[in-house]
Amino acid sequence: MRVAILIAILILVSYELAFSPLSSLSVYTETTDEKLFKERPKKFIFYYAHAGFSNQLYALQRAMIIAYATRRTLVIPPLLPHIGSATHTKFGGRAGKNFKDANNIAIEDGKAVMNINSTEFTSWSEILDYDFITDFTGVHVMDVWEFMRTEFGGALLNFTTDIDEMPLVTSWMEFVDEFNTHFENETIALIGSAFALLDIDQAFKLFDEDAFERIRIASLCFLPSDKVLDLIRAAIIHVPKHYVGVHMRFGDMYHLSQCDETNAAEEYSKLISSIRGANITKGSAIYLGSKDGNAKNCFDEHSQFEFRVFSLHDITNPLPLEKKFGVYNISSEIPSLTDAMGAINLDKGTKYLLIDLMLVSLGHSYFFSRVSFRPKSSTFQEIIEQRHKFREQYMGLILNNSSDHHHLRKYGDVRY
Ligand SMILES: *[C@@H]1O[C@H](CO)[C@@H](O)[C@H](O)[C@H]1NC(C)=O
Ligand SMILES: *[C@@H]1O[C@H](CO)[C@@H](O)[C@H](O)[C@H]1NC(C)=O
Ligand SMILES: *[C@@H]1O[C@H](CO)[C@@H](O)[C@H](O)[C@H]1NC(C)=O
Ligand SMILES: *[C@@H]1O[C@H](CO)[C@@H](O)[C@H](O)[C@H]1NC(C)=O
Ligand SMILES: *[C@@H]1O[C@H](CO)[C@@H](O)[C@H](O)[C@H]1NC(C)=O
Ligand SMILES: *[C@@H]1O[C@H](CO)[C@@H](O)[C@H](O)[C@H]1NC(C)=O
Ligand SMILES: *[C@@H]1O[C@H](CO)[C@@H](O)[C@H](O)[C@H]1NC(C)=O
Repeated sequence: MRVAILIAILILVSYELAFSPLSSLSVYTETTDEKLFKERPKKFIFYYAHAGFSNQLYALQRAMIIAYATRRTLVIPPLLPHIGSATHTKFGGRAGKNFKDANNIAIEDGKAVMNINSTEFTSWSEILDYDFITDFTGVHVMDVWEFMRTEFGGALLNFTTDIDEMPLVTSWMEFVDEFNTHFENETIALIGSAFALLDIDQAFKLFDEDAFERIRIASLCFLPSDKVLDLIRAAIIHVPKHYVGVHMRFGDMYHLSQCDETNAAEEYSKLISSIRGANITKGSAIYLGSKDGNAKNCFDEHSQFEFRVFSLHDITNPLPLEKKFGVYNISSEIPSLTDAMGAINLDKGTKYLLIDLMLVSLGHSYFFSRVSFRPKSSTFQEIIEQRHKFREQYMGLILNNSSDHHHLRKYGDVRY
């Protein structure tokens, strides 16, 4: 009887923990799957990467879910350059495709990486920590560049399929069964666009909340690489210690040429009154992230200079005066922004986007606005929201010596 009660309490406790932030994940217990992922599975899953940074991160999350559930090693496609990035990279930006076309392009990616060296390959490992992913979720990952150089690479080039699209996600187990009827005996499963598998998140969450939370933390709220931690250190010293994060999402085709343009004026007015309504006092510092260079000037105009607004421009062109702000006390040596940018082997647009993503999500609180942007929500803003939940942990990584970041690993000491 007592044992039953104890078990019931334990179940309740672990259920609660699944919702808690990183800080309490260290008390997770090992799951019954613990032995399955000790070695890198010799079956693989690969997908077509497309669209912007945030959509690619969601794709990573969804592919990681299937890799986890079907016990496959996840092969990661290149990180595509930021839309509008002037930098020329081997893999350009792309739109969504149907299942078969998507698979064909993914196979082309496999061929393309055979002809380039590792520095020409734009790897996600530049910005996120692959070891942490494996430690924390049990999912083994590798770049397609590396995969093609293993004995299994030929399986991608040989891949053919007779299916037109991925199975529908009704229940999670049915999905996995259906998946296996197509891919069970394939060395590599090619799944078209992983981003497009929108229903997977919710279905898997219902099936295994613990694993879902871990995968979401390791992908959407990724543990930044040491290079990215340095980039954030180099950036954050140019804003005051106490600031509020704001992100304005403008439609992809939209340019903010005039601050009083009706649509923009309306959204600015809503944004500024919600900031005032939250008791952000006059003179408070705001970091405004946005792709539009005019966003900050218009914010000042609409708020009548009520706040001290900073943006990417103040990070890349800091005034000497700004060194006087009560900046964060960072224990490790801070590289120059130029050096920190130079160390990351990706296009400039993606690095700027990372600065906005990190600085907005590290604000004490955050506010969002969308101007001439049709979808109901912005994936970039969703990611900021998720990251903000772990603000304390990431602040610790940034402020303390980067080598200390290994302490985060202890949260993932459940090595499957
Ligand atoms: C990789 O290829 C590029 C372009 O061909 C070249 O400039 C670079 O030196 C190469 N790097 C290595 C490490 O081989
Ligand atoms: C790919 O196909 C070729 C030719 O049919 C075959 O020789 C090779 O073993 C295949 N590779 C893999 C990994 O299946
Ligand atoms: C996979 O191979 C096994 C053994 O040959 C066979 O029993 C099974 O039906 C195959 N699965 C599929 C989906 O073809
Ligand atoms: C803002 O501050 C005022 C005055 O201190 C207070 O009356 C009000 O409740 C506060 N509003 C919020 C949303 O905290
Ligand atoms: C910054 O850290 C150093 C060393 O830990 C300490 O001596 C100094 O007082 C700190 N400065 C501030 C402003 O907290
Ligand atoms: C950071 O940690 C490393 C390894 O523990 C140590 O060698 C280095 O001196 C530390 N740097 C600072 C600035 O504390
Ligand atoms: C960062 O270092 C400071 C001083 O050593 C310490 O008090 C703080 O707890 C550390 N934060 C994290 C998150 O490790």
